[in-house]
Amino acid sequence: MDVRITVPALRAHKVAGGRLPLVMVTAYDAPSARMVDEAGADLILVGDSVAMVVLGYDDTLHVGVADLAHHTAAVARTLPRALVVTDMPWLSYHRDRADTVGNAGALVRAGAAAVKLEGGRSRVGMVEALVDAQIPVMGHLGLTPQSVHVMGGFKVQAREEEAAKALVDDARALVGAGVFAIVLEGVPAEAAAEVTNAVDVPTIGIGAGPHCDGQVLVFHDLLGLQDQLAPRFVRRYAELKAEGVKALATFASDVRMGAFPTSTESYHRSRPPR
Ligand code: KIV
Repeated sequence: MDVRITVPALRAHKVAGGRLPLVMVTAYDAPSARMVDEAGADLILVGDSVAMVVLGYDDTLHVGVADLAHHTAAVARTLPRALVVTDMPWLSYHRDRADTVGNAGALVRAGAAAVKLEGGRSRVGMVEALVDAQIPVMGHLGLTPQSVHVMGGFKVQAREEEAAKALVDDARALVGAGVFAIVLEGVPAEAAAEVTNAVDVPTIGIGAGPHCDGQVLVFHDLLGLQDQLAPRFVRRYAELKAEGVKALATFASDVRMGAFPTSTESYHRSRPPR
């Protein structure tokens, strides 16, 4: 059996140190977790993107700790080799340290090995409280979807030099507080490279160009399970929605034409003994 991936094994994972880029993919239930794990990903992210790609909301603000715990438990039950990281949902780490630790604890008890939270210097106190409670933390900087209303939409961040410098300062502050990795979302490739060079923990990019220590994509985007407009950083490796609709339409047509089920797809009465 493969050895399960741990936080200490990832903490110093830098491409500049000769390591291969890390692979992280989201999953929200047992079948998606099994697929991601069997494909050999290093990390499974139970993202609050579940609100958008599974539950049909327009943003990530509509899920809470109980929702994320429910999805984390489904993923963790598959006992993946990959490290399970769960998003702390909006308002679950914004009030006080006790509340933050309690919420993260619920996610760990559901099966997460680490939690991810959005924000930089303003989150240092909460990161320290979590690390003090023995809960590993992944940071998330740049386009932070929980700030959608403050950003005025899902907009690329840190395009200007000043903002890119602030991004580096935020990353350094998070590392000082004890994060073991940082997601960089929706930032120019140059800014992501600066952050990656400035910190000794891995950066994992999404819409952040190639100069990160790993890449993450959302399961439903990567597999084409949804066909809404995708941002430019999404590469679809399959068109599973189209495949699925085709299969479902064939089923419907078979049922209507009496072609399903056949005799071999049916159970039959036992023959009386002779
Ligand atoms: O929730 C999520 O899927 C994420 C990724 C976009 C990194 O946070």
